[in-house]
Amino acid sequence: MSRRPDPATLMLARAFPEQPDWSAAERLTHFLDHYWQQQSLLLPGAITDMAALQSLLDGDELAGLACEPGIDARIVRHSGDHFSSESGPFDGERFATIGEADWTLLVNGVDLELPGFEPLFALLRFVPDWRLDDAMVSFAAPGGSVGPHFDHYDVFLVQMAGRRRWELGGACDGADRQRRSDTDLDLVADFVPDTTVTCEPGDVLYVPPGLVHHGVAETPCLTLSLGLRAPSADDLLSAWAAAGRNRLPLALDPPLPADPGRLTAETIAAARSQLRQQFLQSLDATSPEAFARWLGTALTRPGRLTPLAPPASISAAELAAELAAGAVLERSPGTRLLVHEDALGRTLFAGGQAFRADDLSETALAAFIDSTVLDASDLTEAAALKLGSELYNAGWMLLSEDPA
Ligand code: SIN
Ligand code: CO
Repeated sequence: MSRRPDPATLMLARAFPEQPDWSAAERLTHFLDHYWQQQSLLLPGAITDMAALQSLLDGDELAGLACEPGIDARIVRHSGDHFSSESGPFDGERFATIGEADWTLLVNGVDLELPGFEPLFALLRFVPDWRLDDAMVSFAAPGGSVGPHFDHYDVFLVQMAGRRRWELGGACDGADRQRRSDTDLDLVADFVPDTTVTCEPGDVLYVPPGLVHHGVAETPCLTLSLGLRAPSADDLLSAWAAAGRNRLPLALDPPLPADPGRLTAETIAAARSQLRQQFLQSLDATSPEAFARWLGTALTRPGRLTPLAPPASISAAELAAELAAGAVLERSPGTRLLVHEDALGRTLFAGGQAFRADDLSETALAAFIDSTVLDASDLTEAAALKLGSELYNAGWMLLSEDPA
């Protein structure tokens, strides 16, 4: 099964306009070899469907979202070089008094609240599904900026409206940067940019992890950040420990010290060696199949998303009837899928759960992985209908009217 997306459908399809003879595949390869995780790149006019981009939301809708409970929103303001931040949700009145300049409203997980973001994620399908984080949207008044900082992940900054100037640092040496101590925001001290680019609507700026960047709104502007996450060793270790909690015997049981009030060198040494030994033992005792299953669930486990509770569970036959009547089965916002095949069979991971996918044809499986909306023509096989109903019942897919 070949599931590499056609490079002509990706955000990089028109990168490097100074090389008019390159194919989309050559552009993608050049990006991956020379820019990905190495240096920033401006992608002028990367978004071709401007109407779809601008219909996602405007500044007022973003402000409305920032007033809803449970939303991860913040406002960053600055006065000269002094930066401060406030956390949401906000009172609607906050925006009436905030002023005309030098502030930014940032809202995370906008794709989990509003429809229409999937085509943007599809432009990034050269990375695995599980690396797609949620979409953050910012509205900045003129002069608005969140200050010079770096992120720990790759980010594609999509200019939705207005004009923003970006100052960019040099090498990716994020860990060595001096942090500013005069603000709660994680800002870099003494930032001296070595490149400046300006983004207009439809332009995209790629920023690799660790590269310092500083965006300043030249006009009121909306910017969408599509972040690509890579779990840290910390994330994986905690997920491993959480999954193995019931399997591992007690990790620390050293000889009793003479003075029970003291943390002794013996206890410390025992803790270190037992932890190491137990971790290695638990890894070695896990079969390749069980490890793959754990990894598939860990990587697809949703971050901010709680699965939707379907109104009522549905059987494969009931799903077939819904689809025949014109409904479509759609991936719930934020759900990431991953397939793995080994000696035990084929598994589809969705939202941190494992589903058996042995009896599906490659074509039916590819429909689940490659498209986010499936209709009756994609789900003709009994096994595909069964999997579709299981994903629906778990909240990872939902039924809606066919938008076409
Ligand atoms: C912003 O949208 O203002 C900041 C995005 C970023 O720098 O990562
Ligand atoms: Co950033």
